[in-house]
Amino acid sequence: MKISVLGLGKLGAPLAAVFASKGFTVVGVDVNPAAVAAINAGQAPVDEPGLQALIDESRSRLSATEDAPAAVSSTEATFIIVPTPSDASGRFSNEYALRAMATVGQGLQRKDGYHLVVMTSTVMAGSMDGELRATLERHSGRTVGPTLGLCYNPEFIALGSVVRDMLRPDMILIGESDAQAGAMLENIYHQSCDNKPAIRRMNFVNAELTKISVNTFVTTKISYANMLADICDRLPGADVDVVTHAVGADSRVGVKYLKGATGYGGPCFPRDNVAFAALARSLGANSELAEATDRVNRYQIERVLGAVQARLEGKGTVGILGLSYKPHTAVIEESQGVALAERLLNEGHPVIGFDPKALGAADAKLRGRMKSAASAEECVRAADVVVVMTPWPEFTTIAPDSFARTGSRLPVIDCWRVLPAEPVRAVADLLYVGQGGLTVAAGIL
Ligand SMILES: NC(=O)c1ccc[n+]([C@@H]2O[C@H](COP(=O)([O-])OP(=O)(O)OC[C@H]3O[C@@H](n4cnc5c(N)ncnc54)[C@H](O)[C@@H]3O)[C@@H](O)[C@H]2O)c1
Repeated sequence: MKISVLGLGKLGAPLAAVFASKGFTVVGVDVNPAAVAAINAGQAPVDEPGLQALIDESRSRLSATEDAPAAVSSTEATFIIVPTPSDASGRFSNEYALRAMATVGQGLQRKDGYHLVVMTSTVMAGSMDGELRATLERHSGRTVGPTLGLCYNPEFIALGSVVRDMLRPDMILIGESDAQAGAMLENIYHQSCDNKPAIRRMNFVNAELTKISVNTFVTTKISYANMLADICDRLPGADVDVVTHAVGADSRVGVKYLKGATGYGGPCFPRDNVAFAALARSLGANSELAEATDRVNRYQIERVLGAVQARLEGKGTVGILGLSYKPHTAVIEESQGVALAERLLNEGHPVIGFDPKALGAADAKLRGRMKSAASAEECVRAADVVVVMTPWPEFTTIAPDSFARTGSRLPVIDCWRVLPAEPVRAVADLLYVGQGGLTVAAGIL
């Protein structure tokens, strides 16, 4: 089968490569000529573990073009994975999705026979059966039905493990215009997945709600764990990891994402949560739980900032280890490390930062105000207080003697408890967040 994929970004490029690696002939499309050129040169257009290897093994089946109608008319199924940015009210904008849908419609005018259109971008409830379907029908001159299938099929991947997550998903969520469309999409996944994921097929609105509900449930869980960490910091003898490990052993709860540390960030969790609350409010439903989750998340940066300030004397330098929103990615959207750096810089504190992948992006976002360290050790050596904001595996092997100071002890705040306790405690004042003793500046909490 031939598949076209519109949007060769963080999700679209891996999806195109996964399909090509499983035997489909794939034509990628992007309005960005650099992404198209990269695919045609056999290069990954985005940095994602495993992506380059997939492209290497699938080159004969993977090409790209800027001509969306041509790509659509030469294929049997089209996946759309373009941005759906949040608008001022917190809802997702369909601006790019509508433009993409229009070009798909133009392509369909040039071909006969059945075609399946799959919206993979995250959209608000009501979009699929509303303006997205209407735009497709208007531009294609066809009605969704016997010759045109339409599905909503959002992804549940995490950046840094997109390829793995696409090959071995927990669940495939399909909102379908009709059984024929849903069955065709299900068959594509039978061929492309390495595992046998749960397949959930339903109408559009249920799928639209399910997508943001999954992420909102996870953000609620993270904020819950962070609330526990906050309590443990104030309760002598308490250890958040001991508590969450035991709480998560109950099968009704589960341990995944039950880790008290920093707030959640990235391009999906914060905005999906806010969109969920906006949807509830717009319907007159109670949105308090989603709003509280967001408030608890915003409070996390105050917690860490307070702990840093309590340990800073004068305008000492703060060393921040970890600026990406999670390990194994260069993405800094809604990153807690960058947010902390920004707050400290705004208050006049010098900041030095290190991240294995996100240093360039963080430097640009902070407009060169943060000093970039060449290594984690250099960051630690230059700092008067050190904070671990992202649990990069590299940080577990920082040379312990970098934490040593002559005539004093370096305060080290480890939000993720990744630094080796004994060797670091031998030379520095290491504080594991969530294990009691997080002193904060007066008035912060
Ligand atoms: N990044 C994530 O972690 C993640 C996770 C789950 C869902 N999503 C959703 O997936 C969607 C895409 O996210 P992303 O992170 O891949 O975005 P991205 O910005 O990395 O990539 C989008 C790509 O689409 C291209 N594009 C824009 N308009 C186009 C058009 N009309 N035709 C062809 N290409 C076009 C852009 O040039 C860009 O390369 C969004 O709706 C997002 O919410 C993202």
